[in-house]
Amino acid sequence: MRNARINPSILSADFANLASELDRIHTADAVHVDVMDNHFVPNLTLGLPVVDALHKVSKLPIDVHLMIENADRWAPEYAQLGVDSVTFHAEASAAPVRLARELRSAGSRAAMALRPATPIEPYLDMLGELDMVLLMTVEPGFGGQKFLDLVLPKIKRARAAIDGSGKPIALQVDGGISRDTILRAADAGADVFVAGSAVYSAQEPSVEIDVLRNLALGGH
Ligand code: DX5
Ligand code: ZN
Repeated sequence: MRNARINPSILSADFANLASELDRIHTADAVHVDVMDNHFVPNLTLGLPVVDALHKVSKLPIDVHLMIENADRWAPEYAQLGVDSVTFHAEASAAPVRLARELRSAGSRAAMALRPATPIEPYLDMLGELDMVLLMTVEPGFGGQKFLDLVLPKIKRARAAIDGSGKPIALQVDGGISRDTILRAADAGADVFVAGSAVYSAQEPSVEIDVLRNLALGGH
């Protein structure tokens, strides 16, 4: 039985009205919060105080995606806020095993993200340290980019490795997920889908979330 969770990204929401923007996605499985530092990616969004404020008002679990340098220094502070899950980039961590353990011991799920051109193979032996792997399907930094089909083979290889591990590790995709692309990602083996512009540009974001989930489950 296929699983499909939809985590809308508030990167495409109205930043002046984040609390009401959360209400518009009440059918979601979690809210995806993109933290960018203008170093790891050429864009700047929000940091610890805003994630803390969102966590205090959100009825949905918070899925933090850190697109920041020096993840080893900063990621544990996000976990200490009490959010559900913290994702750091493999490319920004000097000690990903230690960091994943620190995130878990702070009470959060531990997740690691890979840019489109970063291979999964060097990290297969540490899968057991992770609750989720995020495979970026665009170069991180901005919403509204085109889904990169070149990531599909990596999604398949990651799915095979996760199934082989026998551990309940989620496989998230982020970037360019829409009605047109979500089934391709699901067929390749993803089971958590981040969608920013597709959800927030819809008339009814809460309905669009259900549409996307049904498509990922193989429906219409
Ligand atoms: C991109 C961010 C994404 C972004 C996705 O770097 O990590 O979460 O918000 O936006 P869409 O769904 O518009 O590609
Ligand atoms: Zn993201």
